[in-house]
Amino acid sequence: MSRRVAILISGGGSNMAALVDSMTGDHPARPVLVASNVPGAGGLAKAEARGVPTAALDHRAYPDRAAFEAALSDVLSRAGPDLICLAGFMRILTPGFVDAWAGRLLNIHPSLLPKYPGLDTHARALAAGDAEAGCTVHEVTADLDAGPILGQGRVPVRPGDTPERLAARVLEMEHRLYPAVLRRVAAGDRTPLWL
Ligand code: GAR
Repeated sequence: MSRRVAILISGGGSNMAALVDSMTGDHPARPVLVASNVPGAGGLAKAEARGVPTAALDHRAYPDRAAFEAALSDVLSRAGPDLICLAGFMRILTPGFVDAWAGRLLNIHPSLLPKYPGLDTHARALAAGDAEAGCTVHEVTADLDAGPILGQGRVPVRPGDTPERLAARVLEMEHRLYPAVLRRVAAGDRTPLWL
């Protein structure tokens, strides 16, 4: 029986599209929901175009983080996901939410964790003079960007790189890494993948 995958986004959803497009044929999972905390997120249209059910929950419409997360948990519960992939989902999740979905939450982060948790990862890698950069897929725990690593993809930093140029190179690697890790995890294999 195939694993059910929900994907949470806040923006353009290019990682979401890569994940959805990978879940065909003998893949052990199928997408069941794409949800966004940003009603106009470009990724929602991409999901609809792919025939995946969508939900938009504007976090600003809720009185506090707990109320937003309760609504998000409701929507997720109805979709019954085995796995929930955060893909450019830009809300910090509270320990209550993370505990409720423990073991099912994955995230992609645009740095070689444990380097550069949080924001502005590419500018920070360039400022540090790093020779390489990359992305990490990890299990989500209550500590921001710090859960067990499931996979990492490295790319070179090139002379003359700007944060934008480096981000584009890393994003291409994200689109390879996240589908590859999801396939392994959906098949029950959580040993880290190194690309
Ligand atoms: C991706 O680069 C992802 O790694 C990053 O946001 C971008 C979303 O792009 N996520 C984070 O920074 C999470 N802290 P996408 O919407 O095109 O997938």
